[in-house]
Amino acid sequence: MTQIKNIGVFTSGGDAPGMNAAIRAVVRTALYHDMQVTGIRRGYEGMINGDYEFLHRKSVSNIIQRGGTILKSARSEQFKTAEGRKLAHYQLKKHNVDALVAIGGDGTFTGAKALYEEFGIPVIGLPGTIDNDLTGTDYTIGYDTAINTVINAVDKIRDTAESHDRLFIVEVMGRDSGMIALRTGVASGAESVLIPESKDDLVGLFDRLENGRKDKSSRIVIVAEGEQEGGAFHIGNIVKEKFPHIDTRVSILGHIQRGGKPTCMDRVLASRLGYAAVEALKAGRSGEMIGVIHDEIAYTPLEKAIEKSSEINLNLLKIVEILSL
Ligand code: F6P
Repeated sequence: MTQIKNIGVFTSGGDAPGMNAAIRAVVRTALYHDMQVTGIRRGYEGMINGDYEFLHRKSVSNIIQRGGTILKSARSEQFKTAEGRKLAHYQLKKHNVDALVAIGGDGTFTGAKALYEEFGIPVIGLPGTIDNDLTGTDYTIGYDTAINTVINAVDKIRDTAESHDRLFIVEVMGRDSGMIALRTGVASGAESVLIPESKDDLVGLFDRLENGRKDKSSRIVIVAEGEQEGGAFHIGNIVKEKFPHIDTRVSILGHIQRGGKPTCMDRVLASRLGYAAVEALKAGRSGEMIGVIHDEIAYTPLEKAIEKSSEINLNLLKIVEILSL
């Protein structure tokens, strides 16, 4: 086992609140062990283009509370080619980076796995995405902040919905996962939650609107962006057509869900994982994502981590239904 002297850290894909806390933890833990840390800016794009900088103790001061990522993020098409990855490897060698911590989601880990397999670079992945859609961790960095942002927004929408006796269809992020929608649906007292993991959600909603309580002054329906029936505007149009007497509006929360100060939960998760990543590399581990399962650090091979998480708790849908009666 060769001794690691210089760890490269980068963030890639959609940014997530708490990524900065993870970068800070990687830097401070590595320095504690007398290792150097190189920050790679703009994910795989910067890795290819030589956008590298040394990170010192001070470089990560005062960032634990900041949203976004000080290293910036990008989605790189060039890295998907063998030529692009060769260039990335060339730059990593040139900057004496001998191990990597990749913070991001499934796209990030697919790239990290390729670097590990093609060039033998030790690499550890940290789950950084608001979507909470990875296998091998109960929560991803950024998810808790995002769901809190969503319920704050929906609480405000509820105020105006209530004043005007309206139904609001609110679309939340999550790509092809319903994780954000499911929890925020429970927490905002939604009438219905429509997610890609469950079928016939729309039929269920129609049934509620036809046969449910008629004296409700406001109704909130949460739709995951990946819902197979279509996005919130499409569903809104169907509802308006079928129920013309219900005053219906649509609201798409969008990228507001990716910003803001990380919650305490996200800062703690990111700090634990950043620390664990350096310890793992030091112990000779590689090709794994580090997550937390039942509050314990857990290691999952990168190829398994990117499998879509099957852990969605569909019982929460039932709870939404019963509690909004
Ligand atoms: O993966 C995080 C995420 O915010 C998804 O929820 C969403 O589908 C996607 O990224 C949006 O990506 P972009 O910022 O490139 O539009």
